[in-house]
Amino acid sequence: MKSSIIRFFLALILMTFISRTKAQEYDTIWLSSLDIKKASTGWGILGKDVSCMGKPITLNGITYKHGFGTHANSILYLSLKGGSERFSATVGIDDEEKLTTGSVIFSIYGEGSLLWRSRVLKSGGPSEKFDINVSRIDTLILLAEGAGDGINYDHADWANAYFLSKKPAPITISRPSEPAIILTPKAADTPKINGPKIYGTRPGHDFLYKIPATGVRPMSFEASGLPQGLKLDPLTGIISGKVAKAGTYEVNFTAVNSLGKAQRKFSIVAGDKIALTPPLGWNSWNCFACAIDQDKVKSAADAMLKSGLADHGWSYINIDDCWMIQSNSKDSVVGGDTRNSKGNMNVNKKFPDVKALTDYVHRQGLKIGIYSGPGPRTCAGYEGCYKHEEQDALQFARWGFDYLKYDWCAYEEIAKDHSLPELQKPYIIMNKALQNSGRDIVFSLCQYGMGDVWKWGEEVGGNCWRTTGDITDNWSSMEGIGFGQAGLEKYAGPGHWNDPDMLVVGMVGWGPKLHQTQLTPNEQYTHISLWSMLASPLLIGCDMTQMDEFTFNLLSNDEVLDINQDPLGQQASRTVQLGDLEIWTKPLEDGSIAVGLFNRGLFSSRIVAKWLDLGLEGSYMVRDVWRQKDLGVYDSRYETTLPSHGCCLLKITRK
Ligand code: GLA
Repeated sequence: MKSSIIRFFLALILMTFISRTKAQEYDTIWLSSLDIKKASTGWGILGKDVSCMGKPITLNGITYKHGFGTHANSILYLSLKGGSERFSATVGIDDEEKLTTGSVIFSIYGEGSLLWRSRVLKSGGPSEKFDINVSRIDTLILLAEGAGDGINYDHADWANAYFLSKKPAPITISRPSEPAIILTPKAADTPKINGPKIYGTRPGHDFLYKIPATGVRPMSFEASGLPQGLKLDPLTGIISGKVAKAGTYEVNFTAVNSLGKAQRKFSIVAGDKIALTPPLGWNSWNCFACAIDQDKVKSAADAMLKSGLADHGWSYINIDDCWMIQSNSKDSVVGGDTRNSKGNMNVNKKFPDVKALTDYVHRQGLKIGIYSGPGPRTCAGYEGCYKHEEQDALQFARWGFDYLKYDWCAYEEIAKDHSLPELQKPYIIMNKALQNSGRDIVFSLCQYGMGDVWKWGEEVGGNCWRTTGDITDNWSSMEGIGFGQAGLEKYAGPGHWNDPDMLVVGMVGWGPKLHQTQLTPNEQYTHISLWSMLASPLLIGCDMTQMDEFTFNLLSNDEVLDINQDPLGQQASRTVQLGDLEIWTKPLEDGSIAVGLFNRGLFSSRIVAKWLDLGLEGSYMVRDVWRQKDLGVYDSRYETTLPSHGCCLLKITRK
């Protein structure tokens, strides 16, 4: 009896000792003490013990000393290697957004399975605490995502986040890299004519079109059925002149080289509409921003030709902000008198000769665009068109510009409010001025979607209108904008397009320092596929002089571009939405349908496109558009596996 009591006490002492040493084995490791720079975030900074705005982490009135401040959509990968026992934190939207409409869902994945997910946490609402077992986990993923209403105000805090850990300690790791697989087949040496099949012009206005064709040079061109007033240079394929009379002209292009001959039909519609297909070109903002100058614009035109992009139908070279005089600037390069004695806009010293520049671009068969805004100043503080609209439109036309991006910005100081008449007024004024300028100038409205611009953009003369704020080169920005276009399809059509902003593939950076896009290869395929399905203007945002093979592959797939340029001009609709999986469809002029299968999720997933769900019946030939390959005839469905954030673009034709 005595000995069993002694044994009992000995065991008790031993157990206490063991559990003490076990507890002592674990260290508290704050998440914010790790290299959190490996995370990605939708906006602001990656906050080490502060919010994404750099303020103390505060949830429901409690300020936390430790924590990781992010903004949806944000993602962080960690490697634990079984060294950690528990992970805990309190999550929610930081009190700095208490009065707004933010909403976030926090999720934690371990080895590809969901370990924990929060409720939808809202601005000013309760936070949520968790404490989970991670002892068997190697790869841990922390995710904070917008809860289905975009990512505005989603300041997502992981407050008091820590691991109970022994050795090895947790470390943050980079997102697993993906191979940049090239899918676009190389263009053949034999001639092939690409680009739009329909083109709008106004009678009596300057006409310029270079027949886009791949194949070895020298190549010669013919065009039968050209309207009176146009002539073709058979050596360059450049058509110029002025169409004399309104009408629809069915033209036949031929391109010939030593290996063969190609033909393509092309309709020229001389009437009151231009931009009958979405504009295809380049814009200086996403790469150079205010570090733009005349030589860079020239080099962009050279690169569009030399890279071969022009042979696939790309044609606009658009200058964005910062070419004029910056108001009140002391800088001798961009400062000075904003206008000359006649009231005409002056340019800054980085653009020594605008007319020589537009002539240079036009001589090569390309078009050129310019940027301004209805306010006294542009977004970057340069001279705007306020009270000089007519004069400036005439100046743009004299210089020979073919495209005007007209950016609201400082008009905010002029507009009385955001009522429809106030939102529309400056665009109505500039449209009238452009119509009277005697030149075909594509009118691009840039006011970030205010007042549902898609409902009235066409009415005020817009050929396209930005539907959102500015894009940046990360997944949350691109997917938020791209997939957020669902429902806007009824407002787009030939001559008037929704514009979800410019492309962020290749070397971007908003100048002067550039970097490779932060989008993964699969995300880049999704970007180009989705924008093509959306019949969006495609404006390349990278430095084309530094374009790598992968980026060229993204921008030179004629079958993808044909979907974007389809003459029917129908923007794709979201037909199926199943969690992270989406199917979008776009009817095409030839009766076939472009089908985009997308996976917005973090893990690869099987997707099934059932004909019934797409409103179809019967047998369809399925073609893989990126690979330009028929996959066979399918009777009721097509299924495949999509990588994380990846897509598959199909064209299906009734058999
Ligand atoms: C705004 C526009 C951008 C760009 C800049 C220039 O932010 O949305 O696309 O034109 O202005 O300052």
